[in-house]
Amino acid sequence: MKRRRTIYEGKAKILYEGPEPGTLVQYFKDDTTAFDAKKRATIEGKGVLNNRISEYLMTQLNGIGVPTHFVRRLNMREQLIKEVEIIPLEVVVRNVAAGSLSTRLGIPEGQPLPRSIIEYYYKKDELHDPWVSEEHITAFGWASPQDLDDIVNLTIRINDFLSGLFLGVGIKLIDFKIEFGRLWENDFMRIVLADEISPDSCRLWDIATNEKMDKDRFRRDLGGVAEAYSEVARRLGILPESIQGETKGPVLVK
Ligand code: TMP
Ligand code: ASP
Repeated sequence: MKRRRTIYEGKAKILYEGPEPGTLVQYFKDDTTAFDAKKRATIEGKGVLNNRISEYLMTQLNGIGVPTHFVRRLNMREQLIKEVEIIPLEVVVRNVAAGSLSTRLGIPEGQPLPRSIIEYYYKKDELHDPWVSEEHITAFGWASPQDLDDIVNLTIRINDFLSGLFLGVGIKLIDFKIEFGRLWENDFMRIVLADEISPDSCRLWDIATNEKMDKDRFRRDLGGVAEAYSEVARRLGILPESIQGETKGPVLVK
């Protein structure tokens, strides 16, 4: 079989050349890392689950008019996406204090925030993705004031929509990270949601028990990572038989 050209390989995904110009294939690996890849593991079936979950969330967001890079899922681990110019920012939205916000500002984990807070991190592994302000972003030209305006407006809509969607299946959206890209259509440029939205990039807590259903299970050695991701998929109504098929060996066909 002809090897496809790899455009970019990250910690959890690979981007391959797409079947036609302006497209890429996004492949979801089972690899997981934390703390600047100092901690690593392979979690069987994680890539399959994130592919499905991200497909579902991006499709729902498309449905309310949030533009995304997502075109369609191709198979268990791959989706077709539009090629975009990634804006080098991790946009984090927080609804409840957790993680680095709690550590940095001494706000107890689990404390609801007075309002949703948007933070920006500059995507630069060598610098450990430092926290930056809008001033840095516009001064250094990572995004223009108009780009940032679009990013904030989309981010607020995404947060509202996803908070409600997860609440409907008994999950609290504590915080999440998203990325945006510039999509060029002739001379016209649009900012679109890119990358992925999955339990790797969100904090998701069970509404009744506050049990963690996201990557913190790996970061904090809580165990049951794949089981938690499966439960998120199951609650969203998107856990197909085939996911169990891939990870648990042959399945009896009735
Ligand atoms: P933080 O509390 O560690 O800053 O993380 C905030 C959110 O961003 C959380 O939902 C996890 C997500 N995140 C990523 O997706 N990638 C990262 O590299 C980091 C540090 C956080
Ligand atoms: N992407 C981070 C890393 O490996 C992990 C995290 O999400 O905490 O550096």
